[in-house]
Amino acid sequence: QTERTLALIKPDAIDKKGAILEQVCRSGLYITQLKMCSLSRDLAQSFYAEHQHKPFFNALVDFMSSGPIVAMELMGTNAIAAWRDLIGPTDSAVARSQAATSIRARFGQDNTKNACHGSDSPASAASELEFFFPSKGAGPGNTAT
Ligand code: CMP
Repeated sequence: QTERTLALIKPDAIDKKGAILEQVCRSGLYITQLKMCSLSRDLAQSFYAEHQHKPFFNALVDFMSSGPIVAMELMGTNAIAAWRDLIGPTDSAVARSQAATSIRARFGQDNTKNACHGSDSPASAASELEFFFPSKGAGPGNTAT
């Protein structure tokens, strides 16, 4: 059925955003919202709160707050799974071993610098979309400071 999901282009792949957006468009998913923004450490910590007890949490927060990102709302048939298929497995090396065409295979470096993020369920898609594109208010990057 028609779904919405949150997609991020992470700091390591920001210079590849043109190629990534082209791949999104060719996939048939619609980009229904898009913005470039930066996450403070605080915002990165709250976005990834579910991983706060994982050994890689600090590295993940440092990385995600290291530079600009692109946040997108993607819409389409089975958009959550479709986008995760398009980006490939979390570990970019595993992604390359499976298919050379996935976004992480093409542009990711490792387990952390892996080019993109995609929501993993309808519940996380809803909360992650609300985080970046709040129905009330601005969200990351839209406030002039
Ligand atoms: P993402 O899809 O953004 O969701 C959680 C992120 O945590 C994941 O992509 C990776 O960037 C990172 N991550 C997940 N597992 C590991 C791991 N084993 N080592 C380092 N980073 C990880």
